[in-house]
Amino acid sequence: MGYTVLENYKVISLDKIPSTQIYATELILQHKISGPTIILAKAQTNGYGRYNRKWVSHHGNLYVSFVFESKNRDARLSYRIAVAVAETLTELNIKPSIKWPNDILVEHKKISGILIEYIENFVVIGIGINISTCPTIANYKTTKILNYTNTTIQIVLKKLSCNISKWLNAPFSMVRSRWGHFAEGLNHIVKYRDKDAQLIGLNDNGALILRIDSAYHLVYGDEIYL
Ligand code: BTN
Repeated sequence: MGYTVLENYKVISLDKIPSTQIYATELILQHKISGPTIILAKAQTNGYGRYNRKWVSHHGNLYVSFVFESKNRDARLSYRIAVAVAETLTELNIKPSIKWPNDILVEHKKISGILIEYIENFVVIGIGINISTCPTIANYKTTKILNYTNTTIQIVLKKLSCNISKWLNAPFSMVRSRWGHFAEGLNHIVKYRDKDAQLIGLNDNGALILRIDSAYHLVYGDEIYL
C-alpha cells in the first residue's frame, strides 16, 4: 500500500471508495494500522455521518478519517476536533460557528461534519469539509469554502492536521474556552427533545449543560435545535 507523510501522520490517499470510515475500520480489523494515520479519499460512494445519515461525497471536497490509538472513550474529543476544524476555517479568513456537538457552520449553513467512532483500541475521526461543492439537503442549508475564498484540498488538509495535533494536546480548559468562542446559541434558549432549554456550556467531562425550567441537565451525544 502506497503512502506519504504529513506532519506526524502516515497519509493513505485513495480515489473513490465507499467511505474513509469503512476503509479505516477494515485496516484496524486487519491489524494494519501503525501510528497516527490519515485516510484520504477523493470521493465516497457511501459516506455517512452521525445517526448513519448519508454524507453526499462528490469530487472536490475533503473526505478524511484520522486514526489514532485510543483505549478509552472521551466525550471531550468531539470539542477538540470541532475547534480544530473551526480554527482551520478561521485561518482561511472564514468565520465559522459550532453547533453542538460538532457541526461546523458558516452563516448558519453547514460546511463541515465530524463523526467519531471507536473501533477496537482505535478512534476513527471522520471529517468532511465542503470545499468546492455542497449538496442540497432537505433539512438544513449547506455552504462551501469556495463561496468565501480560494484554496485547495491539500492546503485545507495540511492546516487541519496541524490543528488536530495542536487541539488534541491542548488543556481542556483552553479547548472549552475556544469552543465557547465559536459556539452557537450559548446562553440562549434552544430546543432539546421538544423542550425549551437554556444552553449553559460544557462541564469538565465534556457534557453539555442545559437548564430546563430550573433544573440543570447533563447531555452527551444527542442533538439540540437552535
Ligand atoms: C455528520 O455531520 O453527521 C458527520 C459527517 C462526517 C462525514 C465524513 S466524510 C469523511 C468520513 N467518511 C465518512 O463516511 N464520513 C466521514
